[in-house]
Amino acid sequence: MSPVLLRSLCLLTLYLTIGYGLEGKFSGPLKPMTFSIFEGQEPSQVIFQFKANPPAVSFELTGETDNIFMIQSDGLLYYVRALDRETRATHHLQISALDAQGATVEGPVPITIEVKDINDNRPMFLQSKYEGSVRQNSRPGKPFMYVNATDLDDPATPNGQLFYQIVIQLPNVNNVMYFQINNKTGEISLTQQGSQELDPVKNPSYNLVVSVQDMGGQTENSFSDTASVDINVKENIWKAPEPVEIEENSTAAHPLKITQVQWNEPGAHYSLSDRDKLPVFPFSIDQEGDIYVTQPLDREKKDSYTFYAIAKDENGKPLAFPLEIHVKVKDINDNPPTCPFPVTVFEIQENEGLGSSIGTFTASDMDEKNTINSILKYKIVAQTPQIPTDGLFLVEEYTGKLQLAKQALKKRDTPQYNLTVEVSDPGFKTSCFVQINVIDINDQIPIFEKSDYGSVTLSEDTAVGTIILTIQATDADEPFTGSSKILYRIIQGDSEGRLGVDTDPQTNRGYVTIKKPLDFETAAFSNIVFKAENPEPLVSGVTYNASSFASFKLILTDVNEAPVFSQDVFQAKVREDVAINTKVGNVTARDPEGLNIRYSLSGDTRGWLKIDPVTGEIFSVAPLDREAESVYQVQVVATEVGGSSLKSTSNFHLTLMDVNDNPPRLVKDYTGLFICHPLTAPGSVIFEATDDDQQSFRGPQFTFALGSENLKNDWEVSKINGTHARLSTKHTNFEERLYKIAISINDEGRPPLEGTVFLPVTFCPCVEGSCFRPVDTQEGRPTVAMAVGILLTTLLVIGIILAVVFIRMKNDKGKDNVENAQTTEVQPLRS
Ligand SMILES: *[C@@H]1O[C@H](CO)[C@@H](O)[C@H](O)[C@H]1NC(C)=O
Ligand SMILES: *[C@@H]1O[C@H](CO)[C@@H](O)[C@H](O)[C@H]1NC(C)=O
Ligand SMILES: *[C@@H]1O[C@H](CO)[C@@H](O)[C@H](O)[C@H]1NC(C)=O
Ligand SMILES: *[C@@H]1O[C@H](CO)[C@@H](O)[C@H](O)[C@H]1NC(C)=O
Ligand SMILES: *[C@@H]1O[C@H](CO)[C@@H](O)[C@H](O)[C@H]1NC(C)=O
Ligand SMILES: *[C@@H]1O[C@H](CO)[C@@H](O)[C@H](O)[C@H]1NC(C)=O
Ligand SMILES: *[C@@H]1O[C@H](CO)[C@@H](O)[C@H](O)[C@H]1NC(C)=O
Repeated sequence: MSPVLLRSLCLLTLYLTIGYGLEGKFSGPLKPMTFSIFEGQEPSQVIFQFKANPPAVSFELTGETDNIFMIQSDGLLYYVRALDRETRATHHLQISALDAQGATVEGPVPITIEVKDINDNRPMFLQSKYEGSVRQNSRPGKPFMYVNATDLDDPATPNGQLFYQIVIQLPNVNNVMYFQINNKTGEISLTQQGSQELDPVKNPSYNLVVSVQDMGGQTENSFSDTASVDINVKENIWKAPEPVEIEENSTAAHPLKITQVQWNEPGAHYSLSDRDKLPVFPFSIDQEGDIYVTQPLDREKKDSYTFYAIAKDENGKPLAFPLEIHVKVKDINDNPPTCPFPVTVFEIQENEGLGSSIGTFTASDMDEKNTINSILKYKIVAQTPQIPTDGLFLVEEYTGKLQLAKQALKKRDTPQYNLTVEVSDPGFKTSCFVQINVIDINDQIPIFEKSDYGSVTLSEDTAVGTIILTIQATDADEPFTGSSKILYRIIQGDSEGRLGVDTDPQTNRGYVTIKKPLDFETAAFSNIVFKAENPEPLVSGVTYNASSFASFKLILTDVNEAPVFSQDVFQAKVREDVAINTKVGNVTARDPEGLNIRYSLSGDTRGWLKIDPVTGEIFSVAPLDREAESVYQVQVVATEVGGSSLKSTSNFHLTLMDVNDNPPRLVKDYTGLFICHPLTAPGSVIFEATDDDQQSFRGPQFTFALGSENLKNDWEVSKINGTHARLSTKHTNFEERLYKIAISINDEGRPPLEGTVFLPVTFCPCVEGSCFRPVDTQEGRPTVAMAVGILLTTLLVIGIILAVVFIRMKNDKGKDNVENAQTTEVQPLRS
């Protein structure tokens, strides 16, 4: 092909980007230049025409020509074979200009040819089959293996950018993906569901088909390759250990290993968390996961412990749920029995028969109940004095019941015995002291000083606690014993228990006291009868007679009393949307003196209710609103008609049942939501809605949607859960300003109510992840700067108009221009 033809053919297809210092696009003098040429192009293409200045007459090409680049003596640089970037990405050439003798007169100057990539290489997995394994319950998103492919094309261009994908997961139940792949790196990890649901018992292995595409996977023309991945699911060994039993009061060296936990992989950081926040927490864990008790425990202080073992990664992030560790402290017999008192005192009457029970002596033991460690045995080891003989008393070995063993006692032999009772558990013995007092027999009855205390007149409102009468009986038995102590009992005339008698232990005097309010209307007159008794039984043959009884007459006087409501609180329940004038409840009161009653309300702060003064029925008089008051509380007043117009008050509580009458709304003013501008990737914000209506125990279950169709190109809303949703941008092309996005939230109630809210999202430049410039949150309200701007613009416009009018008066031209200027310039004033 002749050079001339070549030139004319190829100049059209010549492709080059311009180096520096060029005069023309396709020709020029010899200078350092750089050309970029796509690989794989038809060969024999002209690159550039160099012009020689005398005395130069020809050119010479040297360097990395690879026999591809040629130069004609007239300076036409071209190449004869298709370039291949993967063979050589940059060719460094030199061109010299030669004179007629072949001596270099210019140069050599460097000429650089950059070979531009085309997608002429397919991505290829390094292996056709991969194998990996993952532990059950591994953290979602944490890579456990990766696949890797190469593509010889330039990784700086889409041709060499790889995009990984999982195409098939087997087995696949209900299309739930347990695995995910990082589309850039090929790292494979578990999804949320995978982390929760994978179970080697159900299915120990999975097979994935993964694909890799070049061109970032973004075009139809990308090449692809696939590989198979076998994944073994291994059992999770992060499991709570069996409950541990530790013997208390251990003498072994501490810390003492008691159990262990283990994370699925090495390198986890373990710690313990004390559920009960004890002042001293006696457990520790080391970095092998071994758990220790750090000191001897005391079951009698705390008999069990529950705490958590936590595994974290190197960044302090928990790897999984904490494990609950249970420790039970095992009892040992480390507590001696203890006596109930320093000295325990019993009484026995003289002349009581053999075998008579004196009482039961009970010691205690802090060791665990119902075990051998706390079973006690009793034994009498000493008796003083031994008069008339030793062994007068017996104790039952396991119950501690004391009995008279040998003979009846005589107070004149000795009035008192001291016993030492030995109490033992399997490891300890404790001596306790018991005193037995021999008391006179109860052969005397209490005798009242008089049998009739006359009459007492009281007003019915005499206060509770008032002493209304003092009575006295005497007993000739030994003082300060159960045989002489007197208990007064009211046996007649006070079935309601309004009175009681307290005895002075020194004098046996009885004080008759009001224990409950008196009531003229139930009993205006009563005849009260007392009986005086001893706590100890009388000896046989002696009985209480008429001298142990006394009486008095109680006369009450009437007091005008306020009406009495039948209840302290009246309750009623209605739907919040009841019609006006609906009966919502009623109250009743009664006047003790039988007077008529009129009802009224007080504290009806919202003016919702009225009461029928005669019947006590309560009606609504205004719309009710549960969201204002879920339980509306007012007082009802009953006033007697006539008499002293006494009144009393009770409460009326009206529970309002919810009706779905509030649309959902945003939980707060979201003024600070922002997305960093310019966007490198689609951004999103999270928001929360609420509803003033009463919610089911599951909480609200809102659904979310964009408020208008035309937002759908730029935004999307996705529900996170019943209250939260995410607003995301669909692309990255947003202006740096405030957007207010209409969102409709539906409460799915019955009937459903929908609210439209405006979520303000600011696009702003970010510094360290926060909005750099506080942006106006109020769209359309001018700031000071804007106001000044508008003012200046206005003045300018007025100026222009004046000028135009002035010019027009002189010269009737440029009419259109002026009108255009007015409409555009005045615009901001309208908003
Ligand atoms: C994948 O293979 C390429 C080429 O062999 C290598 O440069 C790269 O580091 C590998 N990727 C990973 C994650 O090992
Ligand atoms: C690739 O993965 C990233 C992050 O996981 C994700 O944001 C992006 O949408 C994915 N690209 C495609 C094309 O799916
Ligand atoms: C431990 O046992 C010994 C006897 O075995 C006892 O003296 C000590 O009080 C016990 N300590 C505790 C804390 O119970
Ligand atoms: C019994 O012991 C008490 C001290 O606890 C003592 O005062 C009293 O005299 C003793 N009685 C007899 C009869 O030993
Ligand atoms: C009751 O018995 C005592 C002796 O125990 C006697 O003194 C008294 O007179 C008797 N009273 C009556 C009313 O019989
Ligand atoms: C009024 O209330 C009483 C109980 O407080 C109830 O027995 C009665 O039926 C009520 N009357 C009406 C008309 O609702
Ligand atoms: C709903 O999702 C938000 C954001 O992820 C979270 O903070 C909130 O606790 C979730 N609420 C419930 C009830 O799960």
